[in-house]
This record gives sequence, structure tokens and C-alpha cells, in this order.
Amino acid sequence: LAFAVVTNDGHPQHVVWLVGAKCIFSQQLPKMPREYIVRLVMDRRHRTLLALRDGRVVGAICYRPFFEQRFAEIAFCAVTSSEQVRGYGTRLMNHLKMAGMRDGITDMLTYADNFATGYFKKQGFTTAICMERRRWKGYIKDYEGGTLMHCAVAPGIDYRN
Ligand code: ACO
Repeated sequence: LAFAVVTNDGHPQHVVWLVGAKCIFSQQLPKMPREYIVRLVMDRRHRTLLALRDGRVVGAICYRPFFEQRFAEIAFCAVTSSEQVRGYGTRLMNHLKMAGMRDGITDMLTYADNFATGYFKKQGFTTAICMERRRWKGYIKDYEGGTLMHCAVAPGIDYRN
């Protein structure tokens, strides 16, 4: 499994991968409007961390870093159905924490789907938001039907696996 962070920078390979990630998100998150997924994945303020096997996207996390606020909001996170429960979701999150750390990100926030709160808890996320409200309030959108969850990214910890 290989990992890469890409954004919609016009590079043909990146666009192909982002389309692959978008397909996984829309299959795995059927309640999310497809146009909304496309808009965020292709938005240049968002980045997408890809899990690639033989050059094909098998899982991805789309997120938006807020560098000045030192946090990132996870918009979408999914692994293709045939590859779930093999640890890829955990490896993706560990890579995201490492990538965030390199960019000075100290916290991750996400509105977790109620079915996915168990996954996020295993990745160190809690529903208690131990982060000053002024750092995130107004930066991220309220999303109905999801539970806001937080994870502190501890500098110096090696999350690789
Ligand atoms: N509820 C509870 N526990 C879960 C869930 C879940 N929905 N999914 C995985 N887990 C557990 C696994 O059992 C595993 O536990 P273990 O370490 O004790 O064995 C642990 O979480 C990690 O499992 P992985 O194999 O690393 O996770 P996987 O590769 O299956 O990826 C993911 C998890 C991304 C949630 C995947 O199942 C998926 O794509 N689900 C459908 C889409 C989805 O719900 N995405 C999140 C929506 S919220 C958002 O995007 C912001």
C-alpha cells in the first residue's frame, strides 16, 4: 500500500486519483450529495490523502487544513467496500496525523457519521472537544446528522505503522 496527499493542481495523475477517491466517497457515503463531494474534493483548499494499491485508489481522506488555526477538518473518509476491516482505515488516519504534524497541525476535527463514531474512537477521536472553541467555531460548517469529534495530534509521536 502506498500513500500520497494530492490536491486539484491540474496534474493529470492527481485528477485521476481524485476522481477515484470521489467514487469511493460517493459509494460509501450515500447520504452525501454527490455534487457536494465533487465540490469539496476538487476544491483547492482541500487535500486528499490516498491509499493506493497498484496505482489504484482503495481508500481516501479528504480534509481541509486551517494552517493559522493549526487544525484540519476531515470532510470525507472511506475505504472501498472489498478492502474494509483490513486496517487500511487506521493506516490512512495515521498517515494523516503524520502529514498534519509536518504542517504544524495540532488538532483534527470531523463530523462523524453516526455509524462511523466507533472507527473514529479507535483512531483517538472523542466527542469531548478539548480544543478552544474560538480556534474552530465559524471555520467549520455545522453538519446535521453527524457528531463532532476531536483528536489532538501529539507532536513527536510516530504514528507510522
Ligand atoms: N463502527 C465501529 N467500528 C468500526 C467501524 C464502524 N463503522 N469501521 C471500522 N471499525 C473498527 C474496526 O473493527 C477496527 O477495529 P479493531 O482495530 O478493533 O479491529 C478499527 O475500527 C479500524 O478498522 P480498519 O480496518 O482500520 O478500518 P477500515 O479500513 O474498515 O476503514 C472506514 C474504516 C473508513 C470507516 C470504512 O469502514 C468505511 O469506509 N466505511 C464506510 C464509510 C464511512 O462510514 N466513512 C466515515 C464517515 S464519517 C466521515 O467521513 C467524516
